[in-house]
Amino acid sequence: MSEMSLPFHVKFEPGKIRSEEWSKSIKDPEKYWDEKARALSWFRTWDKVLDDSNKPFYKWFVGGKINASYNCLDRHVVTEKKNKVAYIWEGESGEVKTVTYYQLYKEVNRFAKVLQDLGVKKGDRIALYLPMIPELPTAMLAATRIGAIHVMVFSGFSADALADRINDAGAKILITADGSFRRGKIVELKKTSDVAVEKCPTIEKVIVVKYSGQQVQMKEGRDLWYHELMSKVPSNTYVPPEPVDSTDPIFLLYTSGTTGKPKGVQHGTGGYLVWVYWTLKWAFDVNDKDIWWCTADIGWITGHSYVVYGPLLHGITSFMYDGAPDYPQPDRWWDAIERHGVTIFYTSPTAIRMFMRFGDEWVLKHDLSTLRALGSVGEPINPEAWLWYYKVVGKERCPIIDTWWQTETGGFMISPTLGIELVPLKPGSATYPLPSIVAEVYNDNGQPAPVGERGYLVIKTPWPGMLQTLWRDPERYKMVYFGRFEGIYYTSDYAIRDQDGYIWFLGRADEVLKVAGHRIGTVEIESALVSHKSVAEAAVIGKADEIKGEVPVAFVVLRSGFTPSDELKAELSKHVRATVGPIAVPADIIFVNKLPKTRSGKIMRRLLKAIVSGATLGDISTLEDGASVEEVKKALEEMGGHLG
Ligand code: WT7
Repeated sequence: MSEMSLPFHVKFEPGKIRSEEWSKSIKDPEKYWDEKARALSWFRTWDKVLDDSNKPFYKWFVGGKINASYNCLDRHVVTEKKNKVAYIWEGESGEVKTVTYYQLYKEVNRFAKVLQDLGVKKGDRIALYLPMIPELPTAMLAATRIGAIHVMVFSGFSADALADRINDAGAKILITADGSFRRGKIVELKKTSDVAVEKCPTIEKVIVVKYSGQQVQMKEGRDLWYHELMSKVPSNTYVPPEPVDSTDPIFLLYTSGTTGKPKGVQHGTGGYLVWVYWTLKWAFDVNDKDIWWCTADIGWITGHSYVVYGPLLHGITSFMYDGAPDYPQPDRWWDAIERHGVTIFYTSPTAIRMFMRFGDEWVLKHDLSTLRALGSVGEPINPEAWLWYYKVVGKERCPIIDTWWQTETGGFMISPTLGIELVPLKPGSATYPLPSIVAEVYNDNGQPAPVGERGYLVIKTPWPGMLQTLWRDPERYKMVYFGRFEGIYYTSDYAIRDQDGYIWFLGRADEVLKVAGHRIGTVEIESALVSHKSVAEAAVIGKADEIKGEVPVAFVVLRSGFTPSDELKAELSKHVRATVGPIAVPADIIFVNKLPKTRSGKIMRRLLKAIVSGATLGDISTLEDGASVEEVKKALEEMGGHLG
């Protein structure tokens, strides 16, 4: 929280205009959102802005009828935006394509017809396992056009992870590609899909986009080529957008939690769309001249909200890139910004730290003068990376918009606001809550933590973008988000509020890791490990990493008959990769005789953390969990084995 190297020598306060806007939103939220929601096109206006009669199941714009695809496309194609570019797309090979709003509109209508002809109805779930290609937003919008619910699974997930999500959602159709590219190599998406679908009884059809061009096996009666289906649909096809209830789900997106399988975060249509529209406007003040680049994969919420829905609702031009950020050279992204004239660049601290490591010369080679704002998301940004981003990339001209939010929140929650008023920035702080957000830092007892003291960030009021529930698990929704502090939304994040009211994030307070900004539960990695025949018990913790923020480290107790070896380590890594995906692979696996546990049987994670961070036994004596020093010492002895 160093303020010594601040680039702004000004008074730190919320800003008059920003404070006024926030106060207005809090004083009368229903009136506030009644006005704001009219920025979108509704088929029927709501009867009630917010129904909170069944807390915490809040309902937004009740009685309202709306369609996502209509708001993203139809309403633009009857204006001067018709031939405006929606996406400038670039593949790893250097191929560039542009898609105008009108072209996207035509494609979406045709693909909506394809889906209808395959029997997809309102409320059906459609799984998507695709790389960053224009067919992905097309499929999402075609689904929402007919009221179907899309369930995107990040294309880096394994077959098992894909199957779990498809089965939980009960998806009828899977849309995938033959393959995609990563550092010039082919990623075999169809092959992975085939393995997954074997375990998915609800899947009726698999639609395959031809992208990598390699040979794939098409299963008779089940697999269909996207281009063949589309070629049968006339180009003038029009599918009327289904007016869905504002409270009908728009999509499910699975994310990691503390326990059990990933949670199906369910977002409602009206509230979500209104929230992403306004948050994008508030934070970045997007306008018609912008070339917006959000580098997130659409497989995560950042891509849903700010590669697809937010930019399209505003009718702006986005740049979209499929491939590795440093391929073929470390200046791939700076080169893309220069060539396409990107005006707003929104990426993760991990990417920033990686580019910082490559060296300034890769950035300085390029003319980045079109940039007017820079964004950050996904994990706390350390002041050093913030200042590098600000100076080397933004030339001290572009404000850093550090947006804090979650899959569950739908859109930005705490962030500077170019579209309202820019408050003085402090490197590493996301500043203040957006309008409608009442954020507080609580201590363990649910009391506001004193200024400068670490606590848990909570949100005390509902907002339109909040999740509706967890798919088919309302009890878990209540327990996870509103159980920690009765009736108040619990974020699971550590935070500090400073003397100026600025909020600083200090990482997750639960057993969830942020590896390169990706969210992964330690339980998922542990379950993957114990599903291997050699593993009796496993405990996974996060270890600080200079680039990725944190990386998983696993402590493993082997079954009798198995002995620790480098080969076994490699095999376990491979097993985790196959069970969850590359992001879950431990940076290190440590074989131990026994996991340290308290008398009540809880794994002493803090002890494990202390071990990997190289803490001394002295520090260890301050461990919580009610473990006595004796207990800790004994545990350490018993662990024995191959530490480090
Ligand atoms: C978790 C949510 C929100 C889109 C991408 C991640 C961390 C996110 C920030 C930020 C500090 C951040 C939090 C949060 N996080 N943005 N600007 N500063 N931490 O979505 O995968 O649901 O992860 O990401 O820990 O709880 P997600």
